[in-house]
Amino acid sequence: MATGHRENHRENVAGRANVEDTPELLAYYDELENLDAGALWTVANKIEPWQPKSSSVPVLWRYEDLRQHVLRSVELVSPEKAGRRVIYLNNPGRREHAAAVGWLYSGLQVMHPGEVASAHAHSASALRFIMEGEGAYTIVDGHKLTLGANDFVLTPNGTWHEHGVAGDGTPCIWQDGLDIPLVNCLEANFYAVHPKMQQDVGHPIDDMSHAWGAPGLRPAGAEWSKGYSPLLKYEWGPTYEALQRYAKASAGSPYDGLLMNYVNPVTGGPVMQTIGASMQMLRPGEATRAHRHTGSVIYQVAKGSGHSIIDGKRFDWKERDIFCVPSWTWHEHANASASEDACLFAFNDLPVMHALGLYREEAFGDNEGRQPLSS
Ligand SMILES: [Fe+2]
Ligand SMILES: [Fe+2]
Repeated sequence: MATGHRENHRENVAGRANVEDTPELLAYYDELENLDAGALWTVANKIEPWQPKSSSVPVLWRYEDLRQHVLRSVELVSPEKAGRRVIYLNNPGRREHAAAVGWLYSGLQVMHPGEVASAHAHSASALRFIMEGEGAYTIVDGHKLTLGANDFVLTPNGTWHEHGVAGDGTPCIWQDGLDIPLVNCLEANFYAVHPKMQQDVGHPIDDMSHAWGAPGLRPAGAEWSKGYSPLLKYEWGPTYEALQRYAKASAGSPYDGLLMNYVNPVTGGPVMQTIGASMQMLRPGEATRAHRHTGSVIYQVAKGSGHSIIDGKRFDWKERDIFCVPSWTWHEHANASASEDACLFAFNDLPVMHALGLYREEAFGDNEGRQPLSS
């Protein structure tokens, strides 16, 4: 622990730094500091923990608590002035980064019928998961996508994109998920507003879904070499059907139930280079065993109700609630219903963990894989 006015993270363990302060050493540290340098042994145990130590805390954001505040923002600011009218989720441990968990951002965006947000592009990769309303659309590089509840949409890194709601639609709310904190951490974030504020639609509506959305089929001769999926929208109907069919074929995972990853149909890999996403089904009465892994995850309840135990704490959830699991934190999920399935949408930074060789996973071995409750 730190001693005196200067940090000194000592550990009485062979192989770890354990140097006691002396007047001579403290003077030496001052001389190094004047040279913008320092002695590694004073901070080594802090900057190289034995295992990942997330500064994020598990949080459940109840939709019934947030919804009225999200709707109120419509009266308070216009999309023109706000750029994006969004209430973001602010993890108590990550406020300086505006992160919902780890290096992931999440926010709830609302638009009224006839509203249009300005087109823009950024280095952060983005997704949206539609929570309620009819008539929402997104335009990505001239491809217009129509959106319904529980649809999952990509607005990848570098693409021009804008959102709106048709004049004959209803107020729409969706979750925005981005890797803004990660891209800022890497000091690689650019942002641009479209020179015409709005982009032209240059293709038939929903053309990418029509071309790339049939499972196991690929348009002959179609080329796609970008770092993200050409299937920009993953609709709820076929996703839920896929899980129901998967349930006939598999017992699933003891840690996740029936989990299917959204993938880039060209590569079979994640939908974007930095963000992965999945939909999982917990069958009636199913309660998974606990595990932990590197990488942060934000869940949104797409269907049903239940609870998750995260780091020993129980969080009860129902449809449209959002919760997070910080990196290397024990977690397990349970469906509350004995007759209905429950579905959890999730997005994560696992593609980053895998790409950098940092993915690690561990099962909770004791108590038949169930965590004792701490509260
Ligand atoms: Fe954006
Ligand atoms: Fe997990």
